[in-house]
Amino acid sequence: MGSQLDPGPVDPIGPWSAQKHQLLHDYLSSYTTVMKGQRWCRDGYHYIDAFAGSGRPVLRDAHEQRYIDGSPRIALGIPNPFTTYTFIEMEPWRVARLRELKDEFPDRTIRVVPGDCNEVIVEKITPRIRHERFNRGFIFLDPFGINLAWETIEAVAETGALEIFLNFPTMGLNRAALHNELDGLTAERASQMNRVWGSEGWRDLIYERRQGLWEAREFKKAPTRAEHLGRLFIEHRLAKVFRHVSDPIVMTNSHGAPVYCLIFAGHNETGAKIAGSIFDRHQRRATGPQRRAGVDPTGTLPLIWTG
Ligand SMILES: C[S@@+](CC[C@H](N)C(=O)[O-])C[C@H]1O[C@@H](n2cnc3c(N)ncnc32)[C@H](O)[C@@H]1O
Repeated sequence: MGSQLDPGPVDPIGPWSAQKHQLLHDYLSSYTTVMKGQRWCRDGYHYIDAFAGSGRPVLRDAHEQRYIDGSPRIALGIPNPFTTYTFIEMEPWRVARLRELKDEFPDRTIRVVPGDCNEVIVEKITPRIRHERFNRGFIFLDPFGINLAWETIEAVAETGALEIFLNFPTMGLNRAALHNELDGLTAERASQMNRVWGSEGWRDLIYERRQGLWEAREFKKAPTRAEHLGRLFIEHRLAKVFRHVSDPIVMTNSHGAPVYCLIFAGHNETGAKIAGSIFDRHQRRATGPQRRAGVDPTGTLPLIWTG
């Protein structure tokens, strides 16, 4: 095993998270390099980590365990910093670790906000970062499971000023709610699913009524594999509220099982082009040059839907 860990709780993280962190790093580095020269952006450009974690997760695999940089540290470490950094986290011990980042990065403006990001974003972020206020921002939405409400994403899109990377938790949704038959779903799970989707629209997209042995019942139309589910969410939800949305990048664990989809969404064309080329490069590395996943309806932007 690798290095000694401090006493106390740790954030375990799988080796597959490295891809997510690399994409985040590459996008943020390009984003602030572009924003640095934008004189109109008088009120700055802001980084918001909605599910921040402890900032220092522990990577565990068969051979070692060691601390790595979590998304807050990745964002703080880029050469051209954001004007401010807001880290939102619900778990008190992680909040305490995040606060230590203020000493470690004294030249960065850091705010740590304890609480549910669904409330914090709608109450504190989206009223302040808005297209008409000459400021911009980026929100990293990286939940563990199904704890991000559609209303939060909708409020973010409505500002016209915020871009997102969304970790769309396909494994979490499949495990919690999207079983082969709809009829057995509890009211609680159905309402969680409605909250994620923002309506009951998922029912007709995913299920159809078919004759069972004794009676007609709701069965899945097709298996809700990660890419399929990601595309449904993009086509029927994200692409309705953002001008540009990437194709989903499916992230798999060390057993090759899809865990979630990473999706970019935003309103700004430059941001979309940057995300498109970074995602495209990633896909080429992951799948080889001959299989370039994705739909490109405009024929101009790789891996991006443009509304
Ligand atoms: C996947 S981890 C974040 C990992 C981190 N983004 C990284 O890449 O290093 C999700 C985190 O969100 C926190 N969390 C869960 N629900 C939350 C909510 N509704 N609001 C804010 N934080 C939440 C959890 O405590 C956990 O630390």
